[in-house]
Amino acid sequence: MKALCWHGKGDMRYETVPDPKIQDPRDAIIKVTACAICGSDLHIYDGVIPEMEKGDVIGHETMGEVVEVGSGNTKLKVGDRVVVPFTISCGECFFCQRGFYSGCERSNPDKAKAEKLWGHSPAGLFGYSHLLGGYPGGQADYLRVPFADVGPIKVPAGLPDEQVLFLSDIFPTGYMAADFCNIKDGDTIAIWGCGPVGQFAIRSAFLLGAGRVIAIDTVPERLAMAKAAGAETLDFMKEDIYERIQDLTQGRGADACIDAVGTEPHTTASFDSVLDRVKVATFMGTDRPHVLRQAIHCCRNFGTVSIVGVYGGFLDKIPFGSAINRGLTFRMAQTPVQHYLPKLLKLVEEGKIDPSFVITDQASLEDGPALYKKFRDNKDGCIKVVMKP
Ligand SMILES: NC(=O)c1ccc[n+]([C@@H]2O[C@H](COP(=O)([O-])OP(=O)(O)OC[C@H]3O[C@@H](n4cnc5c(N)ncnc54)[C@H](O)[C@@H]3O)[C@@H](O)[C@H]2O)c1
Ligand SMILES: [Zn+2]
Ligand SMILES: [Zn+2]
Repeated sequence: MKALCWHGKGDMRYETVPDPKIQDPRDAIIKVTACAICGSDLHIYDGVIPEMEKGDVIGHETMGEVVEVGSGNTKLKVGDRVVVPFTISCGECFFCQRGFYSGCERSNPDKAKAEKLWGHSPAGLFGYSHLLGGYPGGQADYLRVPFADVGPIKVPAGLPDEQVLFLSDIFPTGYMAADFCNIKDGDTIAIWGCGPVGQFAIRSAFLLGAGRVIAIDTVPERLAMAKAAGAETLDFMKEDIYERIQDLTQGRGADACIDAVGTEPHTTASFDSVLDRVKVATFMGTDRPHVLRQAIHCCRNFGTVSIVGVYGGFLDKIPFGSAINRGLTFRMAQTPVQHYLPKLLKLVEEGKIDPSFVITDQASLEDGPALYKKFRDNKDGCIKVVMKP
C-alpha cells in the first residue's frame, strides 16, 4: 500500500510500505477514505518529537471502511464506516474504566521509555513515535486498528467524511479545552492559537455558554475564521496581549485561558520566545513555553488555565509563583477522545456544528509531502488539510 512516511526534519515521502495485517483477535483493518494533517504532526515534521525512526508512517486523524475484522472482535463488521480516535485504548484497564482513555496503561508497548521521561506512560498513539507505541499511522491506504472494539465509532450514512473526520482528534480536543474551563454563563475565555484546534475551542466555548471569546494569533485568515465564529481577535505581532486582555476585562484578566499553541509558538513574538529558541537550539531546554507563560499572566485570580497545545519535556521559567499566589487551576491532557465521541457525534447529527468549516485544502494522499509544507508555513490561507487515498 501507499503511505506518508517520515524521513527526518521536513522530509515526508509518499512511499510503498507493507500492507497491515491483523495481529490480535481484537484488531480491525480499515480502508482509509479520508485522513488529515494535525498540528501535532507538525511537531514530528519539524523534528521536535524524539524516538522517531526513518520510514515511520504517521497520521492520527483517520476514518474509513472496515475491510477485515479479527476473530475476537464482535463490535465491528466488514463494511462498517468508522472514525478512529487518535488514542489507542484497551477499554478495560484502571484508566479506561474511568474514562481516561488517553491514560490507558495497556496500549503502549514502549511503556518503559515513556516512564523514563515522564514517570508514567500514557496511552499509545497512532503514528506518533516509538515513545508512544510505534504504531503505523493513518495517512495511508489502510490502517491496522488495535483494540478496534473500543476506539472506532460507527458514523451514520447521511454524514459525509468531511463532517465526521475531525471527531478523531481536533473537535474533541477543542471541546475538551473549553470543557476544562468550567464555563459559567457569560464567562470570558481567552484562546491562544487560531489553528484548527483553536477554532474548535472557540466554537465549543460558545456552545458551553461563554459570553466572550478573545482569540489570539497573527495569521490573517485564521483570525478572520475566529471572528466569523464571534470571537474578538488580537494579533500577537501587533498588540501587547497582556495589556489588551486587561483592557477587555476591566483589568481583572480572563476567566479562563486556553493554550492551543504548545511547544512551537512563533519564534519572534517576544523576548522570552527568542530566548527559548536559543535554549532549545543549543540543547539547554526541551520546550518553548512562551504561550503558557502569557496565559498564566493573563488569567484572573482563581481562574483556569487549560492546556491542549502539546509540550514534550521540562518547561523553563513558568511563573508558578503567579499561579499559586492567585489560586489558578490547571487542566491539561492528550484528549481521551472516546470519552467525548458519542456526545460530539450527536452535536454534528443535530446540526449544532458542522466541523467541515475548518477545511481549506483537499487533495490526494500523494500530495501529502507538499501539503505538510503548506500547512506548516500557513501558506495561501491553508488552515486544515484533508487527504483522500
Ligand atoms: N492535547 C491534545 O490531545 C491535542 C490534540 C491535537 C492537537 N494538539 C496540539 O494543539 C496545538 C495546536 O494544534 P493545531 O492543529 O491547531 O496547530 P497549528 O500549528 O495549525 O496552530 C497553531 C497556531 O498557533 C499560532 N501561534 C503561534 N505562536 C503564537 C503565539 N505566540 N500566540 C498565539 N498564537 C500563536 C500559529 O500562528 C497557529 O495558527 C499543537 O500543539 C498540537 O500538537 C493537542
Ligand atoms: Zn492530533
Ligand atoms: Zn486501557
